[in-house]
This record gives sequence, C-alpha cells and structure tokens, in this order.
Amino acid sequence: MTTTSARSFSLDRLVRPAVKAIHSYVPAKGAGVPTDRVIRLDMNESPYPPSDHVRAALAAFLETNRYPAFDAGDVREALAAYAGVPVEQVVAGAGLDDVLNSLFQTFLEPGDQVIISDPTFGVYRHLASIYGAETVNVPLLAGWVLDADGVLAAVTDLTKIIIICSPNNPTGNQLDPGAIEKIVREAPCFVAIDEAYSEFAGYTHLPLVDRYPNVGVFRTMSKFAGMAGMRVGYGIYPVDVIREVNKVVPAFHNVSAASAVAVKAALEDIGTLRGNLERTIVLRDLLADNLREIPGVEPYPSETNFILIKLPVDDAGPVVAELANRGIFVRYFGADPVLKNCIRPSIGTTEENEILLNELADILASGASL
Ligand SMILES: Cc1ncc(COP(=O)(O)O)c(C=O)c1O
Repeated sequence: MTTTSARSFSLDRLVRPAVKAIHSYVPAKGAGVPTDRVIRLDMNESPYPPSDHVRAALAAFLETNRYPAFDAGDVREALAAYAGVPVEQVVAGAGLDDVLNSLFQTFLEPGDQVIISDPTFGVYRHLASIYGAETVNVPLLAGWVLDADGVLAAVTDLTKIIIICSPNNPTGNQLDPGAIEKIVREAPCFVAIDEAYSEFAGYTHLPLVDRYPNVGVFRTMSKFAGMAGMRVGYGIYPVDVIREVNKVVPAFHNVSAASAVAVKAALEDIGTLRGNLERTIVLRDLLADNLREIPGVEPYPSETNFILIKLPVDDAGPVVAELANRGIFVRYFGADPVLKNCIRPSIGTTEENEILLNELADILASGASL
C-alpha cells in the first residue's frame, strides 16, 4: 500500500541532474533463442571455462560467512606478483570498471574535464558523467592513430584525467607507445592507461609508472584470464597517487572472497592462461583471414581478443539483428557515425568462429533485411 502525505515524495527533486542525464546501456538480446544456445561474442569475454585447478579451489571454498581480507591483501599480492610490481602500488576492484570508478572518484568534481580519444571504451564517458565531469573528445586520427599533440592542446586548467586505452577497444589496435609517453611527459594532469587487452598484444606501459609521477596502468582478469564473471580488475599507481586513491577505495576493495580464491588459483595455473591466450591469438588471426574472403568485408588489424569489422553496408544494424535472430550476439555501435557500418565480435571457440563466419557470409550474400 502506498501512503501519501502533504509533502509528497518527488524523485525528480532528489535524483542528481548528472544522473538524470545518463542513458542506460542495453546489452544485446536475441529474438527467442534459448540463452544456452546463444553464442555470446558481444562483450570481449574469453570462451574458455575455468581450469581444473580453479574449479578445485572454488569447490574447496567454504568461508561464505567470513568477510574477505580487509585490504584484499591476498588477491592484491597475487596480482602484484603477476604484474611484477610492489603490492603497495596495487588497487583492486570488482572489475576494471570499479577500479576506474575509484580513480574518477578521487579526482573529479563537477565541471572538471576528462580527455578521451574516440572511438574508445564507452564506460569512460559514463563514469565522468556520474561525477558531473565533462568528457573532451580528441578523436583518433585516420588509421586509429593517437593524436598526441591534439590531446596535449586540449588540456585546460580543468583537465584532471587523460585516459588512453591501448590496445584500444573497439578498434583493436595498439596505440603508439611513443605518443603515449609524450602525453605522460608533457601533461600536467593524471594519465590513465587502460591495458585491459595488453596480454593479447604482449606489451605493457608499466615501466612508465616508475618513471613518471602522473601515470597509472589499469588491467583486468576479465579478458585474457577468463574471469569476467568473478569481477576482478586492478590499477597500478605511483605511491603518492595511491595514497589518495586508497582513501576512496571501498573496504575489501570490492573483491569477494570467492573471487579472490578464483583469481589466486588462476594465476597459480598461469600455463593454462597462457595456452588460452595463444589459442585466442591463433584463432583471431584465422578469423581475420577468413573474414577477408567474404566480399566487401574488412577486418581491422587486432591485437586483442576481438576484431572490429567494416561491413559493405551503410548501417550494420540489420545484420546485427539478423545475427542475433540466429543466436549470435556481436557488438553494434548504433548511433556512432564512425562505426555505424561496423560490428565487433569477440574471438570465440573454433566452432563459434566458424558459425559466425558462415552466418555472416550467408546474411550478406542473401541481402536479407539489409
Ligand atoms: C578497455 C576496457 N577497459 C575496461 C573494461 C572493463 O573490464 P572489467 O570486466 O574488468 O570491468 C573493459 C571491458 O570490456 C574494456 O574493454
């Protein structure tokens, strides 16, 4: 029963204007395909299940009644050892999104500016808007090249963070490390380098964290390690910066005890992770070669676990919808004029990639609903 009072409740009055202005992200849905038969290639996940070692660790985990380590010390130790950095410089979180949230919360006040380079990961804009900050876009140049001079020219007194994603999602390419270092060296603000896909590229910007006071490197166990469901990401900061960030990081770093167990076990079994990584790279390059055989289809070079693909259509929407009807989800960029004719599938298993190829070729050849 709802009671009303003279001073009635007005949600509109209470919700922050910055929140009201946010548009929710709606993930893909397929018309009537049972969820267990859907091939999910829209979120850059790993197609591989946990190793026997991770399964055994999770099966042996019983302490659901206990809080995890207060400072997530155990999982941070494991991540620090893997990354080869001191544990004191590592912040963990419930996925990299959560780690970026604590970064933004540390720096951003309403009206501040964050510089990004579109096309890039959409969460940066979303997070900035939650804090009432303005996103300033310095687009990638032709060939998805980072415009270092443009980024530096866009810096104002209000700029708090420049965020660079390399290898970049959704374009798939690694940005020039020299251009990134120039930005770090010359920018009077914090530079966040998102390395969610660095394992696939075999390259890291971590050495910059030792050399400059204004740079952090941000990573995740979701992609190469196949732990997206466990939600564990981490950031590596210079000591002066992490002192401030730690003040806003929630207790337990938002990492559940079960997730900590799974991540530690996954890193103990690094050989399995490396095997999956190598398999994904081989399958990615094979998928790219096969895609090039479909008339008019142009895969962009990728150093990640996904491929951005230009289709011979004005708008990829109907192709994406038809793929979804056939039980294959890929990422579509809808309103974005630069990526409207593109799809971005992640690399699945051999069988999933073959189904994607065949269905895509069939849809494009039939011209059905295009
Ligand atoms: C560039 C980039 N950064 C961060 C994330 C977030 O990863 P997580 O699952 O760790 O939150 C993603 C996920 O797609 C991503 O593509």
